[in-house]
Amino acid sequence: MNLLENFPAFLHGGDYNPDQWLRTPEIIDEDFRLMDKARCNTFSIGIFSWSQYEPEEGKFDFSWLDDIMERCRIHEKKVFLATPSAARPAWLAHKYPETNRVSAEGVRQPWGIRENHCWSSPVMRTKLALIIRKLAERYAAHPALAGWHISNEYNGACHCPLCRKEFVDFLKQRYGSLERLNELYWSAFWGHRYTAWDQVDPNDRAMDLAMLDFQRFNTQQVLDFMRFEIEALRDYSDAPVTTNMMGLYEGLDYWRIAEICDFIADDCYPVWYKGETEQTAAQYAMIHDMHYSMKGRPFLMMESCPGIPNYKPYCKIRRPGEFEREMLLALAHGADGTMYFQWRKGRGNCEKIHGAVVGHDGTDRTLVFQRVADYGAKLERIREVAGSLIRPEAAILYDWESAWALHNTKGFGEHAGNVTEQSLCGTVFSHYRALWTHSVPLSVLESACDFSGYKLLVAPMLFMMKPGVMERLVRFVEEGGTLVMTYLSAYVDENNLCFYGGNPGGKILRELFGIWNEDIDLFEPETKQTLRLSGAPLGGKTEFEVLRRCEYLHAEGAQVLGVYGREFYAGSPALTVNFRGKGRAYYIGADTEPDFLEAFYGKLLGECGIAPVLPDLPPAVKAARREKDGSAYYFVQNLSDETQCVRLPFAMTDLWNDAPASRELLLPPAGSAVLKA
Ligand code: GLA
Ligand code: ZN
Repeated sequence: MNLLENFPAFLHGGDYNPDQWLRTPEIIDEDFRLMDKARCNTFSIGIFSWSQYEPEEGKFDFSWLDDIMERCRIHEKKVFLATPSAARPAWLAHKYPETNRVSAEGVRQPWGIRENHCWSSPVMRTKLALIIRKLAERYAAHPALAGWHISNEYNGACHCPLCRKEFVDFLKQRYGSLERLNELYWSAFWGHRYTAWDQVDPNDRAMDLAMLDFQRFNTQQVLDFMRFEIEALRDYSDAPVTTNMMGLYEGLDYWRIAEICDFIADDCYPVWYKGETEQTAAQYAMIHDMHYSMKGRPFLMMESCPGIPNYKPYCKIRRPGEFEREMLLALAHGADGTMYFQWRKGRGNCEKIHGAVVGHDGTDRTLVFQRVADYGAKLERIREVAGSLIRPEAAILYDWESAWALHNTKGFGEHAGNVTEQSLCGTVFSHYRALWTHSVPLSVLESACDFSGYKLLVAPMLFMMKPGVMERLVRFVEEGGTLVMTYLSAYVDENNLCFYGGNPGGKILRELFGIWNEDIDLFEPETKQTLRLSGAPLGGKTEFEVLRRCEYLHAEGAQVLGVYGREFYAGSPALTVNFRGKGRAYYIGADTEPDFLEAFYGKLLGECGIAPVLPDLPPAVKAARREKDGSAYYFVQNLSDETQCVRLPFAMTDLWNDAPASRELLLPPAGSAVLKA
């Protein structure tokens, strides 16, 4: 199935803001000539255009958009028309200041910037519904309309009295009675017994569950707002809807947002610094895999930068091969289209230096334009790959609520709670990277997903166990699955209350893993610790350095595969496995070096019968596979600055570079190929 019905091709295009160029119609003529030349077929339009549609309250002008939509039809461009909620007109914010957001400190924010309206203001909703309905009525039947781009990068929270009242309603609904809330909030702590609902303060840093509930509520509020926008469209249009997510942005539980999107769209802005190529590739591969996993089918990379985003620490001109490799990384991991922010660079304001397909020279002679056009032409060559699927047998878990719970918990040293390398995201990522290194298809799931059908499930630092998850993990193992869990997992339940009866997870997981995690040793860099394997070496080594975090474990039936090498707990378990039913459950008690994880997962994947999509790849070359109608397509990417030679198991044609069938593939520095058997 293709992303858009009746459009069996990859989407290619970007954000198009012609309303910045209405004074120079010749530039708009030129845009369409250049769009054809760059083989762009899809554009997001009108994201920030409310004040152009409604320059004065109640006075509407869609003539410019009529013209643009008509041009799109003539030039066979598909359009994602936006609901314009991300940028309110000045008149609206000034006449109705209650549409402005209130900060956590209770201060009403000024108008300006964007994406900063109150989620519940009735006047905001009335005005917004009006403009959305007008757009939907006018363009629903337009042949260029492909779908609706709902708002833009939803983010942030509002603390106005109305939003706070909704928070109280959320609490009432969730807990039913104040007595229940007091119990689950553990409110005898620091004398926090609540006697009225509105005493719960989401900014009270003493109350972990208050903070967590506000984060849950915030996602609910955004969902409600998004539903409101969609409903305003639905009287007129049943075209697909989506909103552009921001990868692992911590503020919103994107799995919930995904539920009301018809397809997933994401904004991706990697930078490729020397020495960090693999790290960056793995990180974005993980994000792409998550977006594919959310619906189990292709997604859209809605925004990316054809040049360089202006806000990065170093703004290097893209090196040869780099742009194409970034786009193909998304396709390899399940995107059915790659689009840019933005089509043409504006002349003014805070994004005037941000990369775009057409620059301030206005020509097609730039490196960026030529690369985009070349990529567009090659995309047409691999058109048959669009709609193909990925079939992973291994999955890794990342839960937003678990991240919130951990980050709201005071403890575990400075590294556990920061949104850094070392945080939950960072740990999940280091395990993902170790798996990805082996070029196997991967799913990135949340703990509510169905695990059946997977052979290997990895749950790194799954701090919170939501209701039913432990039971489902047990079933997964009993039915023959291989489960890996790590340090800092299963400490709390969905109320951020610690499990009673010992970690991990009280009785249920202690039995599953056959261990008891008595405590965690979080040490300074001067303290050194190692993990010493009890049996055969892994990757040629029997002892690995471990960093910062080591759990003090006791085996309670588990087989000990590795022990600590130093400190008073030398010789105690660091790595264990427990057999249960037809499967087994591994526990990694320490924050290990990447070489351990790579070797460990290499062995485990083999034992689970999960093979790399192509055998014997050089270490700097990664491959991914997509499948359709009995054909397999291999995306092969060189992540190094040297030419790489890949021996293929059978002759394949390189669709991307238009090369005949061969058993040998030569990839130039940063080169990519799309092979078909
Ligand atoms: C986000 C926004 C765009 C633009 C880009 C710049 O993705 O959605 O409007 O600001 O960032 O990178
Ligand atoms: Zn509000």
